[in-house]
Amino acid sequence: MGGSAKIEIEGQGGEYPILNGTIGPEVVDIRKLYGATDRFTYDPGFTSTASCRSKITYIDGDAGVLLHRGYPIDQLAEKSSFMEVAYLLLNGDLPSAEGLKDFTYTITRHTMVHEQLATFYRGFRRDAHPMAIMCGVVGALSAFYHDSTDIDDPEQRKIASHRLIAKIPTIAAMAYKYSVGQPFLYPKNDLSYTGNFLRMTFGVPAEEYEVDPVIESAMDKIFILHADHEQNASTSTVRLAGSSGANPFACMAAGIACLWGPAHGGANEAALNMLREIGTPDRIPEYIARAKNKDDPFRLMGFGHRVYKNFDPRAKVLSKAATEVLDKLGISDPVLDTARELERIALEDDYFIEKKLYPNVDFYSGVILSAIGFPTTMFTVLFALARTAGWVAQWNEMITDPEQKIGRPRQLYVGSEQRDYVPVDQR
Ligand code: CMC
Repeated sequence: MGGSAKIEIEGQGGEYPILNGTIGPEVVDIRKLYGATDRFTYDPGFTSTASCRSKITYIDGDAGVLLHRGYPIDQLAEKSSFMEVAYLLLNGDLPSAEGLKDFTYTITRHTMVHEQLATFYRGFRRDAHPMAIMCGVVGALSAFYHDSTDIDDPEQRKIASHRLIAKIPTIAAMAYKYSVGQPFLYPKNDLSYTGNFLRMTFGVPAEEYEVDPVIESAMDKIFILHADHEQNASTSTVRLAGSSGANPFACMAAGIACLWGPAHGGANEAALNMLREIGTPDRIPEYIARAKNKDDPFRLMGFGHRVYKNFDPRAKVLSKAATEVLDKLGISDPVLDTARELERIALEDDYFIEKKLYPNVDFYSGVILSAIGFPTTMFTVLFALARTAGWVAQWNEMITDPEQKIGRPRQLYVGSEQRDYVPVDQR
């Protein structure tokens, strides 16, 4: 506990403090290493590097544990609501009944977007990927809400945080509406956060939209399960972008861009596309063989995780929810059978056992989202919607951290040594 680690390189170096978290591995504080030894550390992918102190989320990848502000994710998914989890992430503790009411009221009253933003959408092609639209429109919020871009003003930071959590469902639903050529719907304040999003997505102005409680509850659970995940790639991107003092709207756009990649949030879209491509359980061995073949770039999408090496607790909740939701909606989807069989076969295969590859959050979410009626291109948008709560909480924590500095990694330079410029006619 505590103490220090001795790092000496050719007689230079010394003792480096060991820092203790509340739970989890100790951390060697090497901030002074370069000054003392003239050496950097090399850690591409940050597999051994903690980039910040955080009180928000804890993951024990070996035990399959995910805690938000200390609360296990399965308890939150079963008992809480996305609004409450968003409050928890932002504020550190669960709200009182009154606190939750106030927070919900504030978020609800921020769900409308500037009318001019609607015209912004029209600049996109109708077949644009909705994540492309999300990157653009969320970034553009900084051009619309000038009164909440001063990051040194705590009140402005709070308003920007509420605006982001409140407006992201409206923006996401508008991205969907634009792609299907239907009119945008304004938010309706008597609905829940999630019910409102479903109505703005699937409703039409010509008739009333009844929010199906089964769908609303499944959607809310999916939002909870995606709300935060410690220092993952998109969250680190948000923090890094924010470390330069960029405004929160621009930082969220950076996070969305990072999330889009198939190794991260884009995996939910890729996983369902893969399951549909496999089609029937008899074709699974062919895909397992491809995933194991070193010469084939194919990977089982929705499988494996940088941190979870036992199981992803989010996948457990979603695996159960997939059956429940499809049963309740009276939908039978062969994709779910394919997913279950793929999981069974992969988990008995030495390759997956040795490499500790398990289904992750993206493996079953697509089956549920598809049953709700979302096209696959919207899957990552839904991830971005939910993760905004985490990004905003992490961004606020970063801004108020007294140890915060501009994020500026160093490198191992392996390029050419200094050489003289040669005029083009002499090359
Ligand atoms: N299928 C087949 N082989 C895999 C897979 C997979 N899905 N994932 C990892 N491996 C192999 C990989 O080839 C490597 O083998 P070797 O040691 O022989 O080179 C070994 O397992 C370790 O993989 P890695 O790429 O070094 O591990 P990583 O921690 O850098 O990557 C990952 C984690 C999630 C990017 C990766 O597992 C992956 O690409 N999975 C598929 C995409 C996916 O489902 N992503 C969603 C992640 S969860 C939600 C989120 O974060 O957004």
